[in-house]
Amino acid sequence: MTNLVKSDNQYEKLDDKRPQFGNRILSNEDNVFEHNAWDNVTWDEEQEETARQKVAENSSILASSELTLKYETEAGNYWDKFYEIHQNRFFKDRHWLFTEFAELSPGTENSDKRIERILPDNSISQNELIGDGKIIFEIGCGVGNTVFPLLLYNKDPNLFIYCCDFSSNAIEILQQNSEFDPSRCKAFVLDATQENWSPPFPEESLDIVILIFVLSAIHPDKIQHVIKQIHRYLKPGGLVLFRDYGRYDMAQLRFKKGRCLSENFYARGDGTRVYFFTQEEIRELFTGCGFEEKQNLIDRRLQVNRGKQLTMYRIWIQCKFQKKIK
Ligand SMILES: C[S@@+](CC[C@H](N)C(=O)[O-])C[C@H]1O[C@@H](n2cnc3c(N)ncnc32)[C@H](O)[C@@H]1O
Repeated sequence: MTNLVKSDNQYEKLDDKRPQFGNRILSNEDNVFEHNAWDNVTWDEEQEETARQKVAENSSILASSELTLKYETEAGNYWDKFYEIHQNRFFKDRHWLFTEFAELSPGTENSDKRIERILPDNSISQNELIGDGKIIFEIGCGVGNTVFPLLLYNKDPNLFIYCCDFSSNAIEILQQNSEFDPSRCKAFVLDATQENWSPPFPEESLDIVILIFVLSAIHPDKIQHVIKQIHRYLKPGGLVLFRDYGRYDMAQLRFKKGRCLSENFYARGDGTRVYFFTQEEIRELFTGCGFEEKQNLIDRRLQVNRGKQLTMYRIWIQCKFQKKIK
């Protein structure tokens, strides 16, 4: 998905092809309109207080309990409708994956095992990449904006990607993509919040689980269960790669009264929902299920619309958690 953020019925494009965050630092406020985006922008007390007030204000009137229940019981239908309308035109591929998560690139520590192989003409291949048979599972894969860059750039012949979404429309669109390769990828419908999963792989078989802007779409009371299930299916030593919305992201501040369902959890105009996390919440959710924290970063960016002379503060959280080796 292009990292698009939707607030009510408005989506704003985020820059997907950005370099790894942390590179463009704004040292002089007068230069703010010189670039499209600035990294590691710190907030002063006043900005923090303004954000707190905006959230207090937009949470002061909650959506009705009937609507709140409907958004939960029909969550899959709302996303199905979203993909029926937007197909795969809505989001762009997530090429930043490889800068933020080197574990997904070929040629990293664990995936660049090389051999010399005798070829049919009896010559010897030079340093052939064989990889190590990494098994990746993406939850909430949508129409494949993470899966397709992975298949394209990671040439490891032993890489296999499982991916699921609870929207059958999303999975259908993904499978119809000409880049879908069933010999390297299996896509299936799964509601990650359901009590028992019956995925096409055994317990303790996954090397990496990818969670990109998906836990935020799940009811906060059900997230812990999803993480427990992930823990069950990861190998000891396996990794979770996570990126999602942070507390006081611009998208949260823009919600109008009546869209809030519970603290920091909102429904957009089309019925899809979004939660805004703190780093501590994510830490507690994963370590509470037995994971070890390997990375927990806050990515604060100032995005600039130079044409309209507007500034927008984006906040994302990026984490890596590892299942303990027994
Ligand atoms: C904001 S989109 C992100 C899609 C994709 N991860 C990306 O970044 O391009 C959230 C996705 O999570 C899926 N989703 C939400 N709740 C889910 C659940 N309980 N089980 C499986 N998928 C879910 C939605 O259908 C949607 O495709």
